[in-house]
Amino acid sequence: MTTADKGIGPSEALAKLFTPEGKREPYGLYEALKELGPVVRLGPKLVFVLGYDACAGALREPGLLVTDAAAHRKTGMIEHSSWQCFTKIMMFSNDHHHERLKGFSRWAYHPRTISGLEPMISAKANALAERLATLDGDSVDLVEGYSSRLTLAVTGELYGIPASDQIALRSVITDTTPAFEPIFDLRELAAGDSGMDVLVDYMATLAADRRKNPRDDLTTRMVREADATGAISTEELVAGLVMFLIAGVQSPSDLIAGAVRMALTEPDQFQTGEIESFLTEVLRFDPPSQVLTRIAGTDLTLDGVPVQAGARVLVMLAAANRDPARFTEPEVFKPRRAPNRPLSFGVGLHYCLGAQLARIQATVGLTTLTGTYPRMSLASEPRYRDQLVQRGLARLEVDLKRSQRHR
Ligand code: HEM
Repeated sequence: MTTADKGIGPSEALAKLFTPEGKREPYGLYEALKELGPVVRLGPKLVFVLGYDACAGALREPGLLVTDAAAHRKTGMIEHSSWQCFTKIMMFSNDHHHERLKGFSRWAYHPRTISGLEPMISAKANALAERLATLDGDSVDLVEGYSSRLTLAVTGELYGIPASDQIALRSVITDTTPAFEPIFDLRELAAGDSGMDVLVDYMATLAADRRKNPRDDLTTRMVREADATGAISTEELVAGLVMFLIAGVQSPSDLIAGAVRMALTEPDQFQTGEIESFLTEVLRFDPPSQVLTRIAGTDLTLDGVPVQAGARVLVMLAAANRDPARFTEPEVFKPRRAPNRPLSFGVGLHYCLGAQLARIQATVGLTTLTGTYPRMSLASEPRYRDQLVQRGLARLEVDLKRSQRHR
């Protein structure tokens, strides 16, 4: 909690949460909201879920649905390219549509397949870490120079996206993520819409190319599977490819950059032999996905609080991860806490399909970078993007102290 947020009341916290300052420092505001209880009803149509058990329960509640095409038709968001695409993917589908879409691509993220990717990820991480030493200037931005390059190189390798196209795609991917924020004015979707048009066009062209010129990549395998089974439409195939591109790149990059930042600001807590538990604590303490949205499909109760059909339910994962009923001294960063089971990859039917890939990328990314530049330090105050739902650093300037290493 910042000093400024001490003693702040719940209504003041709510008013501040969606301001630039609130998005930068949301944790004290979640604490203030929690004073009202683990589930807070803010009128008939809006509910905040803040406690750990309450959030896990909400994500397992069959009466709570993800915001699918029907929900986005009501808000008018379906008219926008961002949501035209997102409403064709599993993350924003319910019932049999969700099962069908998840069933179609689950094999691509099978644990055995993913664990076999480690040498490829390691080779890419090493090459990118070495490249940093060749850059001009006193400091480097690790979001631009490392975390986003690594996760796009990995996704690019899996889906056959040429390295020459990857750099231009990175900012476009980040542009699409504000669509997940609470939208108060549909014009806020403009940048995301143009980014989405680029990504849909790019992946549709790639899929069409692989139909004619098959290769050994996931794009080819997904095109073949869709054509052979007819299980999903071409639009759903392209939307799925776009989703794997965005999900495969943005959150893992945010996790890697966030983890490097924690390693530099909490050096006493960082042990190279304990990177996996360090990453779990980063995921708990400052998760890339802070909030998930659900809509009540029927009247129901959450933790005894009545929720009306049609109400929007904000499941605050980041607040749940700091619930004192679940974590001792939740506001303290402690990588050795055990057990440590944050809700950062979700729970239940929509549990993250890429959790294992994200963890491997982050483990290899952090190990390689800190191993190559053990004396690295922060060069300026890290800066977050102006987003609450998809939280991540916009820049992470570090001094690699390369003169000591590359003398
Ligand atoms: C640190 C990295 C990541 C974080 C924090 C994260 C977080 C999440 C969360 C919280 C959900 C649940 C959404 C909900 O319940 O509404 C989710 C779902 C999902 N994630 Fe991830 N994710 C990460 C990386 C990835 C990666 C690398 C991929 C794949 C390339 C991926 C693909 C997906 C998919 C497909 C779903 C939807 C699953 C479903 O609807 O059944 N994610 N993720």
